[in-house]
Amino acid sequence: MKRIGMLTSGGDCQALNAAMRGVVKSVSNHDEDVEIYGFEDGYKGLIYGNFRMLTSKDFSGILTVGGTILGSSRTPFKTIREPDENGLDKVEAMKQNYYKLKLDCLVILGGNGTHKTANLLREEGLNVVTLPKTIDNDLYGTDMTFGFQSAVDIATDAIDCIHTTAASHGRVFIVEVMGHKVGWLTLNAGMAGGADIILIPEIPYDIDSIINAIEARHKRGSKFTILAVAEGAISKEVAAMSKKEQKKRLENYPYPSVSYEVADQIQKKSNYEVRVTVPGHTQRGGSPCPYDRVFASRLGSEAGELIMNGEYGFMVGIKNREIIKVPLEDVAGKLKYVSPDASIIHEAKMLGISFGD
Ligand code: F6P
Repeated sequence: MKRIGMLTSGGDCQALNAAMRGVVKSVSNHDEDVEIYGFEDGYKGLIYGNFRMLTSKDFSGILTVGGTILGSSRTPFKTIREPDENGLDKVEAMKQNYYKLKLDCLVILGGNGTHKTANLLREEGLNVVTLPKTIDNDLYGTDMTFGFQSAVDIATDAIDCIHTTAASHGRVFIVEVMGHKVGWLTLNAGMAGGADIILIPEIPYDIDSIINAIEARHKRGSKFTILAVAEGAISKEVAAMSKKEQKKRLENYPYPSVSYEVADQIQKKSNYEVRVTVPGHTQRGGSPCPYDRVFASRLGSEAGELIMNGEYGFMVGIKNREIIKVPLEDVAGKLKYVSPDASIIHEAKMLGISFGD
């Protein structure tokens, strides 16, 4: 008998259900009996012992359903060692609940922060297998995370819709795409949607370069310009500041987000009419795209194999289209950034896309 605990932590994304379904289908394909314990709302469920027993029926019909049947929440890693408001030791509580239920392992689906805690639990002696989810595609050790391609579809749709209205009105439009630390989503949706200017956190921008790019388009006869701007896009000026100065600057920041700042600066320095569109959490919502359904199912299937073979302490990821296992200690605490020297950036520039640098 294998007793498997499962939880989804951090910001949700498409295909979490597909991945869990994959694990359950895969482990059910073995002769050994299996019990599945689903912890509710991420690590919170494991800390406070909120769980329910699940059967294969709970995983039926969820391949195409967005969100997570277990619920999710953020439990910041930086405070995981601090007691909660009632003095509870969170790490100890998670271990006790694991041992009380006599679990053989935990399957943890999450992004960057989630992996740090998963690795901590591994160091504390628990058996853990993780699956890489996030629309940001910023997890180290895997070429792709599930949720990413679905989010690219949605952000691209938003840019496509903006294209027609931008052209009708001859306006400059900014579409703000999710991603505070990395620009994978903005880069891919921007290229797929034919954005003229793409701003990502890894390539600090200069407002004059942006205006020059817009003017160059106008001179060539294009009356509108589309910018795909990541939530975490940063100007060269701000990038040159210390982290402390950047934090201080945000205390009196007059804009809802960087896109509005860029819009304001373009408007003030030029005569262009600028509008901002923020698709926000729609990018994480709805049904997973076919790629993510297949990808998450493959990851879940291989995770099930690892569990049944008693191989723990790994994230299941993908490299060169093959599913791989990566030691958790190699993943935790590292981000996968877009390198400004990456070939995709060079190719985008050759297509005439400006990065405002
Ligand atoms: O990490 C995924 C993500 O969607 C980021 O792209 C975004 O910046 C953030 O989560 C939003 O977080 P929240 O849902 O907590 O507002």
